[in-house]
Amino acid sequence: MATVYLDEIREELQKGPTEKDHPFRFFTLATVGLDQVARLRTVVLRDVTDNLKLTFYTDKRSKKITHIKENKRVSLLLYHPTRLLQLKIEGTATYKDDNATKEEYWNKLDIMAKKQYTTSRSPGSNLIDPHNLEYLDEENHFCLVEITPYKIEYLKLSQPHHIRVRFSKVGTQWESEYLVP
Ligand SMILES: Cc1cc2nc3c(=O)[nH]c(=O)nc-3n(C[C@H](O)[C@H](O)[C@H](O)COP(=O)(O)O)c2cc1C
Repeated sequence: MATVYLDEIREELQKGPTEKDHPFRFFTLATVGLDQVARLRTVVLRDVTDNLKLTFYTDKRSKKITHIKENKRVSLLLYHPTRLLQLKIEGTATYKDDNATKEEYWNKLDIMAKKQYTTSRSPGSNLIDPHNLEYLDEENHFCLVEITPYKIEYLKLSQPHHIRVRFSKVGTQWESEYLVP
């Protein structure tokens, strides 16, 4: 088992939300659109557990949540430019908007961050004037999305060989195989 690479994956991912300017603070999230076209966007990585569950926050009216309700399989892309490290992750996404979850995470957000989840109209709606956005006072549409990976592909560009490893979750264990880069 290529344990050393899995340890590196965990270590770098966990630096994303905690270390200033770490490139894994952001990742590209792909969902499958209702028309079966891949939909991509940048989100902020908020938490990574030791068993590699990844969390981000969003507005539950957003398109990505519509997609996840139809198909919970998502793909993630992360790139670390100085380490020349790319991670491709496939996993299942679940969203949480129960009161306990919301209270725990909502209260930790600053006012500006909270505002993002309180537009009176849904994200992606047409708008006549971008400077005239209306916000809700009492209500919010905050939710948390957790991604449980089942496949991770590690690619490190290095000399004399690039290293490419595919990790697949089998039961509770990760199995690995080296691939031609
Ligand atoms: C730097 C950056 C960080 C972002 N972080 C988030 C985020 O954490 N959550 C989120 O829902 N959208 C975030 N966005 C906006 C998304 O990229 C996207 O435009 C928005 O969520 C609408 O996506 P959707 O219509 O596909 O659901 C971020 C955008 C940028 C440029």
